[in-house]
Amino acid sequence: MSDPNDLSAFLGEAWQLLRRGVADSRSPARYPTFATVSPSGVPEARTVALRHASQAEAVVEVHTDIVTPKVTALRAFPVAALHVWIPKSNLQIRLTARVEILTGDQVNVAWAKVPPASRVSYGTVPDPGTAIDHVYAYDKPPERDRFAVLRCVIDHIDLVHLGERHRRAEYVRQDDWAGTWRAP
Ligand SMILES: Cc1cc2nc3c(=O)[nH]c(=O)nc-3n(C[C@H](O)[C@H](O)[C@H](O)COP(=O)(O)O)c2cc1C
Repeated sequence: MSDPNDLSAFLGEAWQLLRRGVADSRSPARYPTFATVSPSGVPEARTVALRHASQAEAVVEVHTDIVTPKVTALRAFPVAALHVWIPKSNLQIRLTARVEILTGDQVNVAWAKVPPASRVSYGTVPDPGTAIDHVYAYDKPPERDRFAVLRCVIDHIDLVHLGERHRRAEYVRQDDWAGTWRAP
């Protein structure tokens, strides 16, 4: 096991698990909880799929439909919190980020990689969240113009490891991710 007092190694382990989430749909990090603040100031949380994770850029990415309420929330408050609990590693990862909503030509490369069967996640009619008369009174055509990448530029990371002795660390962008141990 690596030195438990090594802040940099602790952060590296978290990023490794986030990358595994992108690569492996069976990993718990594949499906973080993604929280936003609604235009009226109410917290909102939902499950999303993690599509990209880069420690060098301090960025994670999520794909969504631009007419979903989460995008309305992000237009009002372009911030999000992401949360993952990874049981096998006994690790909680919490990220906070500023979120850029990328659409149109900015997402050509990402759209090209979305499998045809998954493209129907972007284009539900009527819009997601609309009241409908019957449980299946909706259609799911793929709509290229509704596909968006939520580019989450991370500014804060909080890690909690439930080991024999618990560890908690906080990392911030302003400190170049050097990290600080916190009482768990
Ligand atoms: C396992 C799982 C993965 C999901 N992945 C995504 C996703 O990557 N992007 C997304 O917009 N919604 C995803 N959803 C649906 C959201 O949880 C949510 O129901 C939907 O996006 C509407 O959210 P909103 O009304 O808060 O905008 C996923 C749901 C589940 C259960």
